[in-house]
Amino acid sequence: MCRDVQGDTPASSPRHEEGKAMIELLQKHASALPGIWAMDTARYLLAAGLVEAGEHVAAVGCEEVAERAGRNNRRLAMRKPLLVAKQGRRPTGLLGKLVARVMARQTAAENDIVLELLRLDPADCVLEVGCGHGNTLAKAAGLASRGSHCGVDFSSVMHRHASRRHRGLVREGRVGFHLGGSERLPYPDRAFDKAYAVHTVYFWGAPLEHLTEIHRVLRPGGRFVLAFRPAEDTRFCATHPSEIYCIRPEGEIADLVGRAGFDAVDTLRRAVDTKLMSFIVAARPS
Ligand SMILES: C[S@@+](CC[C@H](N)C(=O)[O-])C[C@H]1O[C@@H](n2cnc3c(N)ncnc32)[C@H](O)[C@@H]1O
Repeated sequence: MCRDVQGDTPASSPRHEEGKAMIELLQKHASALPGIWAMDTARYLLAAGLVEAGEHVAAVGCEEVAERAGRNNRRLAMRKPLLVAKQGRRPTGLLGKLVARVMARQTAAENDIVLELLRLDPADCVLEVGCGHGNTLAKAAGLASRGSHCGVDFSSVMHRHASRRHRGLVREGRVGFHLGGSERLPYPDRAFDKAYAVHTVYFWGAPLEHLTEIHRVLRPGGRFVLAFRPAEDTRFCATHPSEIYCIRPEGEIADLVGRAGFDAVDTLRRAVDTKLMSFIVAARPS
């Protein structure tokens, strides 16, 4: 019988179902994966509370990890392994497919807040930068049902995943997923009414360049929301390797948004699950 490692979530919770699905995939492809991937991924799943120690992790041959977690009988607070962190920046290969599945669930709450802050009108044309799984853009298409919706991501794994998962909307021409980098967006000037990016700013080496591109493709008066975990979230800084994640203070990001040409509308900070999230709401001047 499953028991939650934190002791506060039923073992059959959707988080555990997702974790079990990932473990099954790991088992299925074990022969094609370097052993260290399975080990690191199992550790990460435990730390994120997606699986419990005993049967799930031992099943992929990570008895040592399972035993340690079992002894402590709690969720492990650990630094995200580099292999897994790299997948957050740009998912690739089999591990990327696994990450795509959990990411959608892990970030849904803050993405829902972003959709509220965008104040979508029914005919809005919307852009998501670093759209990953595409679930948020699909929700936006439901809210702005007469508009058109574009998602850009430079990971071919995510591009394929999003295009397949939302193929109905793509076929109807309501949503388009495009493979590309945000330092040079594949769209004409002033093409969108609304734009947003969630959990993507950490990976921009020179954020001003990317923000200026977003400003270029937004129409005058258009609204932009940037959502991220700021350096003020000390747990985030402690658990995410600085080799991959460039975590900046909220004020520094707000300043960069202003330097890219946006007017500040609002900055909000909210606790979302165990995360501290910043939401910068800005507008391109009319
Ligand atoms: C951590 S995931 C977040 C996905 C989604 N926004 C969410 O909140 O669930 C970051 C995504 O941004 C994409 N990404 C990172 N840097 C990018 C860039 N410069 N251009 C396009 N996509 C980028 C990655 O491939 C990945 O899919």
